[in-house]
Amino acid sequence: MDETTSFDIRLVPTHVAIIMDGNGRWAEERNKPRLAGHKAGVDSVRAVVETARDIGVRHLTLYAFSTENWQRPPTEVTGLMKLLRTYLESELRTMLKNDIRLFCLGQRERLPVDVRRVLGTVMEETADCSGMTLNLALSYGGRNEMMRAVRQLAKQCVDGELDYRSLSEDMLTNLLDTAGQPDPDLLIRTGGEHRLSNFLLWQASYAELYFTETKWPDFRKDQLLEAVAAYGRKQRRFGKTGAQLNTG
Ligand code: FPP
Repeated sequence: MDETTSFDIRLVPTHVAIIMDGNGRWAEERNKPRLAGHKAGVDSVRAVVETARDIGVRHLTLYAFSTENWQRPPTEVTGLMKLLRTYLESELRTMLKNDIRLFCLGQRERLPVDVRRVLGTVMEETADCSGMTLNLALSYGGRNEMMRAVRQLAKQCVDGELDYRSLSEDMLTNLLDTAGQPDPDLLIRTGGEHRLSNFLLWQASYAELYFTETKWPDFRKDQLLEAVAAYGRKQRRFGKTGAQLNTG
């Protein structure tokens, strides 16, 4: 670790979620195929995972492939799946070394069988790691996630196991893919757009939102530290007076 150790751990968000946008435009600006942008984006994933772990983030969620992304040209979808598989295969050792648990949000069953297999292996191998949880949102959509949870609750009501009058927010929360994990504190979107794009719709209710023009392939360690620092400044101001802050 280097200068990242100077971060005040109390100001580091427990859960950071990121919409990694701008790969395609980054590539187009350089007259390269879109896939070159995604490839460079994998290097950003590596840098951001390492930095997040170093500064004490406990949960990092990356939006790697949405339910809507299946509509992209087949060559792009195939290319992304291949990048994902290669990334998982190459990162297992690093994840174990850095005590990172891999978890998957979304409809795993829709992924190609080779991706599912390596995903399953890495999730199993890292299941006992407790330094940080890395959630990859794959074939993920917030509405789809909520509908899957709602259907389970509806079935329990129909089967007489639950009274609809006793339904609570916690019950739904506990049936989401993120069950057992805290809600994101900081949600970052790269690439200049200001929308949530069906990402963690329920969980992000109280998240601080951070938008940056920087495209994902250019979002590395310094950019993450900048986003976390901006979050820290907001947290410090949140509902408190200067005097209260000075006395801790
Ligand atoms: C959005 O950029 C990005 C994606 C749809 C895919 C993100 C994937 C990666 C960063 C690489 C693979 C992931 C892992 C975890 C190894 P875009 O293509 O929509 O960009 P644009 O808005 O400029 O077209």
